[in-house]
Amino acid sequence: MSDRTLWRVGVAGLGTVGAGLLALLAERPGLAPAGGQAVVTGVSARSRSRPRPVDISKLHWCDDPIELAASRDNDLFVELVGGSDGPAKAAVEMALRCGKPVVTANKALIAEHGAALAALAEEHGAPLLFEAAVMGGTPAVKMLREAMVGDEVASVAGILNGTCNYILTEMETSGRSFAEVLAEAQRLGYAEADPTTDIGGFDAAHKITILAALAFGCAPTYAAAQIEGIERVELLDIRLARDLGYRIKLVASAARSSAGVSVRVHPALTPLDHPLAAAAGALNALFIEGRRIGRIFIQGPGAGAGPTAAAVAADIADVMAGARRPVFQAPARLLRPFTAVDPRSAVGRAYVRLLVRDEPGVIAAVSETLAEAGVSIDSFLQKPVEGAGGVPIVLTTHEAPEQVILAAIARMAGLPALIEPPRMIRIARI
Ligand code: HSE
Repeated sequence: MSDRTLWRVGVAGLGTVGAGLLALLAERPGLAPAGGQAVVTGVSARSRSRPRPVDISKLHWCDDPIELAASRDNDLFVELVGGSDGPAKAAVEMALRCGKPVVTANKALIAEHGAALAALAEEHGAPLLFEAAVMGGTPAVKMLREAMVGDEVASVAGILNGTCNYILTEMETSGRSFAEVLAEAQRLGYAEADPTTDIGGFDAAHKITILAALAFGCAPTYAAAQIEGIERVELLDIRLARDLGYRIKLVASAARSSAGVSVRVHPALTPLDHPLAAAAGALNALFIEGRRIGRIFIQGPGAGAGPTAAAVAADIADVMAGARRPVFQAPARLLRPFTAVDPRSAVGRAYVRLLVRDEPGVIAAVSETLAEAGVSIDSFLQKPVEGAGGVPIVLTTHEAPEQVILAAIARMAGLPALIEPPRMIRIARI
């Protein structure tokens, strides 16, 4: 327990989460378990004059977050600037070099530079905490870093991007296209003006990279993540998947085996009766599979001012209470190097959808291509859909090497009756 009673907090970044944190600490500076008070004394943001829901006029203002990080006017630095490099990284490094505790919500920074920052933090005896970086207000980081260390985690898998989940849910419930729902999400402020980070799967990849590091005691290695976003998910596939008993979700997963660790983000068919399929709208959800504990499922808000600020406040409370843990599961010097499983070794089931001209022999040619490759068909459906511009044929495969399924699909692409290239979506292994 720290004997300090007043913690002066410097907050860099006053967007949604930063403003939410100022409001939270103004309302309840005495974070219960910490036995002291956390009071924001200094702030830094891009614009001083931008209208905000909180009054910052009485706080020490710094144009430069690095100056705030180094300032002796605060004892704890909160980084909510965002971005893997640039001012966010420089400010966090500065605070750590000064031996100052850092709390951040920056998943890109931790996923891309976490190992080096952990070494710096541990060298200078400064805590570096990032609960809010993954699943916003839903405590996935503490669960893996603290509660699960008595077990060995075999895999984690879940829905880690609320924007994608919102878009996929809205497409299904309203029958609108990806482009229409994305435009609405941007209008409503759910998706960024440049939504690439969310819809391209990169945000979820940052988060699953962090969870993989915490779960498996390895260095976070974003470059090893295999990433596919939701841009190519069509309403037709959402409807056909549903007819087959599935819902399409953007699934982020990490698993460890004797061959190494695989970290993947891609759209996947999840069975309608699976809890991941039931996580609707902007919700996040996560399965953790422990060798002894078995399966744990958590679900909750992955973004938003209140939930994310509460996660930041929980980290501040940990610092105030004197919590001393390695930044990841193990001290930085003992983190295992990340050994990536060869992506070509992936095995799984697939949903394959073709749009064809209604001619004799098409189904025979499709099934022959799969049979020649040794891929066994699980279900097969030809379903006329109004306005589809052809006849959709959809099939699901039994488990087979992904490379073999992809090679067979590439051969199918040459069939003359095809109106557009085949579409493959993996079936989740959950
Ligand atoms: N953009 C993220 C999401 C929230 O849509 O889930 C912040 O991580």
